[in-house]
Amino acid sequence: MKKIAIATSKGGVGKTTTAINLAAGLAHKGKKILIIDCDPQGNVGGHFNISSEHTLSDLLTEGHQDVIIEVRKNLDIITSGRKRLYDAQRELTKDDFGIFKFGERISFILGYKYDLVFCDFSPTDTLINRAALMFCDNLLLPISPGIDSIMGADRYIDVAMDISVRGNKVIDIFGVLINLYEKQTNISREIDRVSREKWGPKVFQTRIRKNVALGEARIENQTIFEYSPQSNGAKDFTALAAEILNAS
Ligand SMILES: Nc1ncnc2c1ncn2[C@@H]1O[C@H](COP(=O)(O)OP(=O)(O)OP(=O)(O)O)[C@@H](O)[C@H]1O
Ligand SMILES: [Mg+2]
Repeated sequence: MKKIAIATSKGGVGKTTTAINLAAGLAHKGKKILIIDCDPQGNVGGHFNISSEHTLSDLLTEGHQDVIIEVRKNLDIITSGRKRLYDAQRELTKDDFGIFKFGERISFILGYKYDLVFCDFSPTDTLINRAALMFCDNLLLPISPGIDSIMGADRYIDVAMDISVRGNKVIDIFGVLINLYEKQTNISREIDRVSREKWGPKVFQTRIRKNVALGEARIENQTIFEYSPQSNGAKDFTALAAEILNAS
């Protein structure tokens, strides 16, 4: 079971879009996937129009384990509990070991035999993110055209380094994903060049093109494969899922 944090300090670069549609692409290919929403914005539950009785917040504060919701075949989610995630954060700060509590409380999912677990992070450096990072073993960093997103990814790699030292563990870079790519613009070509120069083969060959259907699918509470299977968004996330499966 790979545990992948989808994270970067830059907001709006496509973390949640990637969590949902990459997970759906892999689920289509028969992999068993869980998405854990670690963001008080609650966009994962929002995407599927789901609000569950018990959430990640309840798991962290009171140990409720009835938090897993099957949203599609092979695809489960744990919603964040939105603002209540801040209460959970307070719970994690009660003692020095708080940061390890996330991994402890979530460990029951090992019994579910997921192939991959994705944690969708908020862009801010919260204790919830750090605690989730302590649980994860891999980092997927979405970037979008613009130098800020390179810096945002870099900052997050530093956070992951911190956590790996503190937890005496390894957090690998699973991949850097170029999102919102438009081949006709200089800024897209530049992000492609700079990121590959910086991170080499860690940058996925597949780029996710800017595609309005990805935003529309969100509004319709659908994955891109349901909303528009012929769209560039569906083609790109299918290609990304295939790239990941071929590499493993
Ligand atoms: N490839 C794409 N083409 C078109 N729109 C996209 C693409 N990727 C993301 N978007 C849109 O950009 C917006 C931000 O995307 P998303 O919510 O996935 O980013 P995020 O990194 O999770 O944001 P936050 O930091 O707030 O959590 C959304 O409206 C989404 O639909
Ligand atoms: Mg998000």
